[in-house]
Amino acid sequence: MIDNQTILQTLVEIENSLRFLAANGCRGFAPTGHVLEKLEKWGQRREAFTETLGSIQADLGDCRRCSLAQGRNRIVFGDGNPKANLVFIGEGPGVEEDRKGLPFVGAAGQLLTRIIEAIKLSRTQVYICNIIKCRPPGNRNPEPDEIKTCFPFLARQIAAIQPDFIIALGTFAAQTLLGTATPISRLRGRFHEYKGIKVVPTYHPAYLLRNPDKKRDVWEDMKMLMKEYQYED
Ligand code: URA
Repeated sequence: MIDNQTILQTLVEIENSLRFLAANGCRGFAPTGHVLEKLEKWGQRREAFTETLGSIQADLGDCRRCSLAQGRNRIVFGDGNPKANLVFIGEGPGVEEDRKGLPFVGAAGQLLTRIIEAIKLSRTQVYICNIIKCRPPGNRNPEPDEIKTCFPFLARQIAAIQPDFIIALGTFAAQTLLGTATPISRLRGRFHEYKGIKVVPTYHPAYLLRNPDKKRDVWEDMKMLMKEYQYED
């Protein structure tokens, strides 16, 4: 018996593969009669398995899947437009985020808001989330097992939102999404790809607060994004 979760993950994989094909120029298939019939039925059933951010959050529940649950006040699931074309992914909640249950609401968050506005968007137009959803004690770096436990929920959020672009803020977001140990300084400056979605790795706003000279690089990354981003009227 295949459980619902496995079916959902499979559907998400299929959807991402189709998006990947589309991103690489595939404009359709030419199915024959019996395939069309199957596709028609598939389409009807698929609705039952469609995930929303709400259903993913419900599944996450009062998560106790890793030890971060013990020290956190609130789970920071993510915030913004559930149909965003652009998703920002940070590292993990800090003190303010843990208190409010919202991502990027502290000092780094204020800088992120300015970055979003500089690219002619607002926080309500984009979606903002993190690699891990609970604050590590003392703001330490996330541990690999914590990322491993938490990332499947983020992967499902991304699949539900279906953005065209992801901005990976800092080392943890970029390396986790891209499955690499390459430093952020070498990843930034060009587009990468996660399941057919264009990824722009750039420096984390908290790092920019400590190293303001790196803002220039982030602005270069944002200009690269703006050239390709489809702004809606
Ligand atoms: N830093 C992050 O990476 N995420 C937040 O939500 C806040 C600060």
